[in-house]
Amino acid sequence: MGNEEEHQEEVKESKEVHDDDDNSDTEDEDEEEEAEIRKKHYSSKQRILLVGEGDFSFSLCLARAFGSAHNIVATSLDTQEDIARKYSNGIGNVRELEERGCLVLYKVDAKQMSQHYFLKTQRFDRIVYNLPHVGFLYRESSYCQIQLNKRLVKGFLKNAKVLLQKEGEIHVTHKEGDPYNKWDLVKKAEKIGLILHDVVPFCKDDYPGYCNKRAHGSSSDAEFHLGDCSTYKFRFNHST
Ligand SMILES: C[S@@+](CC[C@H](N)C(=O)[O-])C[C@H]1O[C@@H](n2cnc3c(N)ncnc32)[C@H](O)[C@@H]1O
Repeated sequence: MGNEEEHQEEVKESKEVHDDDDNSDTEDEDEEEEAEIRKKHYSSKQRILLVGEGDFSFSLCLARAFGSAHNIVATSLDTQEDIARKYSNGIGNVRELEERGCLVLYKVDAKQMSQHYFLKTQRFDRIVYNLPHVGFLYRESSYCQIQLNKRLVKGFLKNAKVLLQKEGEIHVTHKEGDPYNKWDLVKKAEKIGLILHDVVPFCKDDYPGYCNKRAHGSSSDAEFHLGDCSTYKFRFNHST
């Protein structure tokens, strides 16, 4: 091969190398700029905190939809031993969540979570508590039971407000009708500086795999009839 030919060959190779570099740059950018995946009110671009999970099936539904769970922190009041004892799929769901990059935290009390050693350093775009309930200590419609549930919801909202990003939303999925309307969810939220931004019907079928668990007593693994249910979305009341 003559000098001129050798030079042409080098130029060609060098161009190929640069072309490859160009491609890898685009690939890097693609990796950095992953497409947003949405699941109902939630997005793979949001930092999401799940509170009061049962068997973690709601968190897992979001994780599967997004393909990854690096943006999710899923919490339960229970210990890992409680989860294993109470739910047939609990530990399996936790394992899959962790494999997908979710941080799973146990013994997180919704009424004190803003003081939690890790959570207190974090801020979230969505903080979600589906079907808050303290468990059946009295009859559902009794004064004492309603008071306990009201205290739970108020404590959750107060703590969630501390952990919320400026433009974030707190979502509470709640049963409609008596005695649930006696919990004064919206009034409680307004009193602590949140406003109701939207209320939308909750449809379990929107969340494949999600099992709403009783979570308490001998039938904690059993699902319960949801009836009329809505997701209440709260935001900061910036005017106060
Ligand atoms: C009716 S279950 C709903 C469970 C789950 N969110 C679901 O949608 O299947 C009520 C949940 O509230 C949880 N819970 C009760 N008191 C709590 C508290 N102080 N902090 C966090 N979770 C609590 C229970 O452990 C239980 O998992």
